[in-house]
Amino acid sequence: MKAVFIEQFGGPEVLKYGDLPDPVAGPGEVVVDVHAASVNGADWKVRAGQYKQGTFPMALGRDFSGVVSAVGEGVQDLRVGDAVFGVLAPGREGTYMEKVAIKADIIAKKPDGLSHVNAAALALTGLTAMSAIEDTLKLQPGETILVQGGAGGVASFAIQLAKHIGARVISTASAGNLDYVRSLGADQVIDYNAQDFSKVVSNVDAVFETVGGDVATKSFAVLKPGGRAAFIASGQQPPKPERSDVTSLRPPVGRARKPLERIAELFQKGAIRPPEIKVYKLADAVEALKVSESRHFRGKLVFQVR
Ligand SMILES: NC(=O)c1ccc[n+]([C@@H]2O[C@H](COP(=O)([O-])OP(=O)(O)OC[C@H]3O[C@@H](n4cnc5c(N)ncnc54)[C@H](OP(=O)(O)O)[C@@H]3O)[C@@H](O)[C@H]2O)c1
Repeated sequence: MKAVFIEQFGGPEVLKYGDLPDPVAGPGEVVVDVHAASVNGADWKVRAGQYKQGTFPMALGRDFSGVVSAVGEGVQDLRVGDAVFGVLAPGREGTYMEKVAIKADIIAKKPDGLSHVNAAALALTGLTAMSAIEDTLKLQPGETILVQGGAGGVASFAIQLAKHIGARVISTASAGNLDYVRSLGADQVIDYNAQDFSKVVSNVDAVFETVGGDVATKSFAVLKPGGRAAFIASGQQPPKPERSDVTSLRPPVGRARKPLERIAELFQKGAIRPPEIKVYKLADAVEALKVSESRHFRGKLVFQVR
């Protein structure tokens, strides 16, 4: 099967588009014919060797949408022909390819009204945003949240989810993305190049930080006493606040069928719409990962695999 993989860590030049052996469904697993796989911020970091895990050749990518083409021993609840979507188990890479073997109990059926491209775009972003907003920050109706990096994939889900919960949402984006972030439901969007968010925002209940670096450390300043902040772009440990009256959190992002079914449900009831998507062919992975690494684009980049 065709796949995008690396045989060493490095820059865009180490990405290869070529052939890898077809996977086989082990006990409890299914093989999915991948229709779409999304690019996540982690993928270029894996390519660059920031995580230093796994063996070569290593295919990249963490989420996918496709159709079950083989069922392993013991799988009762999925059949050949089912349309499914999901995210690989933590520590595993490899969805930029034509077939994926995965435990059946961590994937979910894809709703008919959601295209494969949109389902792939919503999988890891949705799990991450729901873990941050609902489980970690425990955002409540009437609270105010600052979502940093509003034009990104995870933030686009988080903004919509926060509005669905009934919170007031402030977000940040560059000038060209302000209208897009407003269209996701943000009540106030700050052009971070024109204004310092820490001078314009204050006293918020919660921050969801998806940018990293200085943006992360400066985010504590806008919290009210007792406020909480969740960080996903600052490594596995949340940054340490300089003040003692706020909480700094790192959302755990697990893999399970139930939260994927919730993504499907949120989509079906109209609470969440897919982000803006730029579609690529697998053979154009070098270009897609360059755009992702630039960290300045809108929504999601998704490979249409078949
Ligand atoms: N499981 C996990 O823990 C998990 C899962 C998914 C992602 N992540 C991490 O979360 C981060 C976000 O990922 P993502 O895929 O949603 O987006 P991303 O691709 O990392 O970020 C792209 C977005 O960031 C915005 N941005 C860049 N600099 C900014 C700044 N200074 N202020 C405000 N916005 C800024 C850009 O908008 P503009 O063009 O408008 O600047 C762009 O839309 C990544 O670091 C990723 O690795 C973690």
